[in-house]
Order: sequence, then structure tokens, then C-alpha cells
Amino acid sequence: MDKEAYLAEIAASRPDRIRWWQEARFGMFVHWGLYSQIGRHEWVMNRERIPIAEYEPLADAWKPKERPAREWAALAKQAGMKYMVMTTKHHEGFCLWDTQMTDYNAAKRGPGRDLVREYVEACREFDLKIGFYYSLMDWHHPDGAACAVDEAARRRFLDYTQGLVRELMTNYGKIDILWYDVSWPLKSPELWESVKMSSMARELQPHIIINNRDQLDEDFGTPEEHVTAEQAGRNWEACMTFNGAWGYMPSAPDEDWHSTRAVLGMLSTATAGQGNLLLNIGPAPDGSVPQLAYDRLLPVGKWLAQNGEAVYGQVDRTDGRLEWMPVSGNPMGRSWTLKGNTAYFWIARWPGRAFAIGGLKSKLLKASILASGQPVEFEQQPDRVLFRGLPEAQPDEFAGTSILKLEFVEPPRQALGAGCVVL
Ligand code: GLC
Repeated sequence: MDKEAYLAEIAASRPDRIRWWQEARFGMFVHWGLYSQIGRHEWVMNRERIPIAEYEPLADAWKPKERPAREWAALAKQAGMKYMVMTTKHHEGFCLWDTQMTDYNAAKRGPGRDLVREYVEACREFDLKIGFYYSLMDWHHPDGAACAVDEAARRRFLDYTQGLVRELMTNYGKIDILWYDVSWPLKSPELWESVKMSSMARELQPHIIINNRDQLDEDFGTPEEHVTAEQAGRNWEACMTFNGAWGYMPSAPDEDWHSTRAVLGMLSTATAGQGNLLLNIGPAPDGSVPQLAYDRLLPVGKWLAQNGEAVYGQVDRTDGRLEWMPVSGNPMGRSWTLKGNTAYFWIARWPGRAFAIGGLKSKLLKASILASGQPVEFEQQPDRVLFRGLPEAQPDEFAGTSILKLEFVEPPRQALGAGCVVL
């Protein structure tokens, strides 16, 4: 199939395939591999120029504890995440599953078991959708770099890559997301045979969604380390580290970890732009989740249990309809969620008993605090809505963030501009 026909075909089936993901909003990324044992970033092999012969023994030394994936999945569930994406093979080339394509894998080396299978089982146990991260770039395979300059090496490397992807798509039942990463060193989707590779994945997993890192505009874009909406109509998911590294990084001090409030800020920005947040944890070599991930994520889950209506589900984009402060001027990012006639105003800095929202052009029918359902008294004036009788102090105990739910007669519109005169 040629590229245009492939892209047209997947675009036609996308709305049905991707609906669950658009409504899920929040997922957990897990980076776990041999590099976790070194604990100095998942790129350590490349950054410290560790020769393959010196790196490989990590494969035999690796002894994860019993089924740590259950701990990740339990945490993801408690944090209000709906799906997970785990590194089945990172750039180091070590395969976490029982592959027939290479001995450099978890079943045949130190762990002595199929870690991908354990992960899949844990996701199913905790009712989370299942994503496989797969790095196209491979620092271990002899053809992983040579493929750029040697046609025979490229053929071998593509056969290897397609063989691995085929196993992942065949051996573990239904898989929901295929998440490719770094397509170095081949410079085009033609050279990677991306259409052929992803068509094969889709044949084996007809419901799957696939990210865009195979150099094709597949189902969603992947802004990294910033939460920035892609153009309207394009599905996107911001992937974020928790502390600046994807892999286990025990030397990261506490203040380098995103706070609970920062995580909510990312969720808010993602929701406003109709996007998703994929937040990473880098488990320790034995698979344990770093304590700070629990400390920061459990309150997010408690908050979402009360305020999830402002985050999950189908949303409209707020840009062009609702404003408040630009992202840089507001610690919570864009502070609105929009769903049809209902808008949710994120209040991360509590105003006290009364305040106003300016520039609302649509008639407001009802206001309430989302978490408690408590109605809020309001008065609509031509260029602002006054709210009164609010609690004196921030009512939210988990993240100091409350949501004011506003129900209008129509999809609301706000126009503030920079002046103070109504024109
Ligand atoms: C980058 C990094 C990689 C990480 C990935 C996650 O591409 O190379 O280490 O896994 O981002 O998005």
C-alpha cells in the first residue's frame, strides 16, 4: 500500500479507534531497562560511551523482584490514570520479553522471565489499557547504525525490527497502543518501511492506535517535555518525565520532581487543548516505584476522584472561546475546561468569599463547586459575572485547587482583551 492510501485509510477508522484514548486523558509511562541499574539516565550507554562488551553484563546481573508491574498498575489506577505505556525495548536494545529474534532478552538473561507478559497481565488485572513503547533506534544490534550506509545491513535490521514488532503484536492478546520512539538513523519512512511495519501491526491489532515517531502521521502526535496543543483536529499526547530523566535517577533531588499541583497544571493544559498527558515513572532496578512518585501521584488520584468530570471525557478546545491568563502568567496553565455548554474554571489560588470572571458573553444558568456540588450564588452583569458566598478558604484539601462548574445556555464565549472598556 502506498503512503497516501495508508494515511487515508487510518484516518477513516481513527475516530472509532481513538475515542477511548481521547476520553482517558491521563496515562502512565514506564521506563525500565538495564540502564535502571546504573541510575544515571536511560541514555547513559551513549552519553558515557559505554562499550557494548562492558554494558552487556548488566543483562545477566538484572534481578527484578516478583511482579513489580502490579505495583505500577496499582499506582496508575489510584492516580486516576487510564492506560500505561511500557518500554519493551529502549535504545540500549535489550528486549524485555521472550523474543525468538535475539538472546539479548529478559527471559534468557538475568530476570529469567518475560517482563512484558507480567506488565500486560498487571494492566489487565487493574483494568488499564495497554501500550507498548518500542525504540526503533538500537545501540546493541550490529546493524542498528550500519543500516544507514549499508543496504544489506538495512535489510537485516528491518527484518529484525519487523520480527520484533510482529511478536509484540502477536503474543500478548489485545494491545491498545504502539508507541514508537527515535527513528535514527534512517531518514525517511520509506527507508524504515514504516507503512509496511505499521500495516502489519494494524492487521494483527485492528483497534490499535499508533504514535507518530515512525516518521508517519499515524494516530497522534507526541510533544515531549512540554504540554503544548497541536493544531486543532490533531490528536496529541504530551509525554513528560517526572524529574528530568525517563530512566531511574536516584540522584534527582526532591525539588526536581513535579509537585502534585504541577501535575494538575499539566492535566489542565492538556484538557484545555484536547490532548493527553503521559507521565513517566522510572522504577528502580528491582522494579519498585520511587517513593516520590507515590507522594505526588496519590493526591492527584484523590483529587481526580472528586473533580474528574473536568478532566475525563470528550472536551472541546478552549482556545478561541475562553481566556484567562496566558500560560506563563498562570501557575495552572490554561484555567478552563470546556464541554459543550458547560465550562469548568480551575481555581488554584483561592480568591476568598467573592470574585468575578470578566468578559463572559454567554448567559449563565448555574454555578457550583464541582467537588461538593455546592451551588454558588452569582450575578451576571454585562461584562462580568460576580460570584458570592464562596467559602473563605480553598475547599480542596488534596491539591489546593477547586473547580467552579458553570452551566450556560450555549457553548460559552469570553472576550477580555487587554483594555477595561467595553466596546
Ligand atoms: C526521547 C528519549 C528517550 C525517551 C523518549 C520518551 O526520545 O530519547 O530516552 O524514551 O524520549 O518520549
